[in-house]
Amino acid sequence: MKTLRVLTGITTSGTPHLGNYVGAVRPTVRASRLPHVDSFYFLADYHALIKVGDPSRVQRSTLEIAATWLACGLDPEQVTFYRQSDIPEIPELTWFLTCVTGKGVLNRAHAYKASVDKNTAASEEPDAGVTAGLFMYPVLMAADILMFNAHQVPVGRDQIQHIEMARDMAASFNHLYGDHFTLPEAAIEAHVATLPGLDGRKMSKSYDNTIPLFAPREQLKKLIMGIVTDSRAPGEPKDTEGSALFQLYQAFASAEETAALAQAYANGIAWGEAKQVLFERLDTEISPMRAVYDELIQNPAQIEKTLKMGAEKARAVATPFTARLRHAVGLRALDNLADTRKASKSAKLAAPSFKQYREVDGLFYFKLIDAKGQLLLQSTGFASPKEAAQTVAHLQKNGLSALAEHQSQLSVKADTEAVTLALSHFSEAAN
Ligand code: TRP
Repeated sequence: MKTLRVLTGITTSGTPHLGNYVGAVRPTVRASRLPHVDSFYFLADYHALIKVGDPSRVQRSTLEIAATWLACGLDPEQVTFYRQSDIPEIPELTWFLTCVTGKGVLNRAHAYKASVDKNTAASEEPDAGVTAGLFMYPVLMAADILMFNAHQVPVGRDQIQHIEMARDMAASFNHLYGDHFTLPEAAIEAHVATLPGLDGRKMSKSYDNTIPLFAPREQLKKLIMGIVTDSRAPGEPKDTEGSALFQLYQAFASAEETAALAQAYANGIAWGEAKQVLFERLDTEISPMRAVYDELIQNPAQIEKTLKMGAEKARAVATPFTARLRHAVGLRALDNLADTRKASKSAKLAAPSFKQYREVDGLFYFKLIDAKGQLLLQSTGFASPKEAAQTVAHLQKNGLSALAEHQSQLSVKADTEAVTLALSHFSEAAN
């Protein structure tokens, strides 16, 4: 049973670099292989529109980031790997969250504040050149996370504030409309400091100091040779502290290798030689993945197919969950209009129920019927009554999100709204 849901996204606004690999791709691919982890990884292409006005660059970056993830070992059969813009429920949830988010909270978001500070320093209007998209960035990101009720969100330190905002939005929504969202937590890889770029500042697209993850070998070498160092001559002891070269090495090497390089620094290794050591270490890890990447990039149709399959899996969760949220906020069909008090009273009199039974095939089944006896859900056969009962219990406790998980064992016999209502009856009783 997968118990921990982990979700993260990468904005499709550029070419993946070593910082993305160390900070996001590598740890998440590793985590995705743990048996108890249910992983959701996606290409944040709606987010890309905030920064990139060049359509072909958004498309190219989407291809490159998808290929990167796959080349680095993500198994799309084991995880839910999708493109944000294939999930129309995300912008819908963004709106629901927008309506429970204080504008003042968004005023304090780092990315927005940085733009305002820059404008103020340049004696411009505070909001000059700031789009509402940039301002709303944290809400869209919260929708990404809350849609799938992620427990953990692996991100870089610069994103911690966004996760905290997502928690706050979830709590506000839950407070108003009932317990719908899991409160997410940021998962920061403790021993991976932010990776430095070529100039020693944080490796970032915005500083133009990145090393592309899948640069051809020769280009990788050239870039590494260009990393800034101090002016100490060969033979002079070097400081590991504050050395971008050293930090990069550390992010790829084992503890013993790192200790050996620290010793070499103390012994006065020449910068040129240290760069050679770094280059070889990086290339050893990267070159097998680079071969897969190059092949994938030649095959965009295959990647498109993989993403479509992922979108289907993601929507199996997002569509019913959004139906539940729509109902929660009052976007409801009018033909089963009932004021809440009346509804809960009549629900007590005639409640939906699960019926468990055994068939002549020897297998154990259950079905969900509504108060009027109409069939809503029909299970396939389970080998034991215990398995059938566990699935029922899971549906009763987690409602529609469990429905998505058990979809291979269930056929839905009525419209989503009717099933939503019936299931929410059990989860309300349980909570
Ligand atoms: N903001 C993240 C970044 O730039 C990308 C992102 C978008 C994301 N939505 C997310 C990360 C949801 C984690 C969860 O790095």
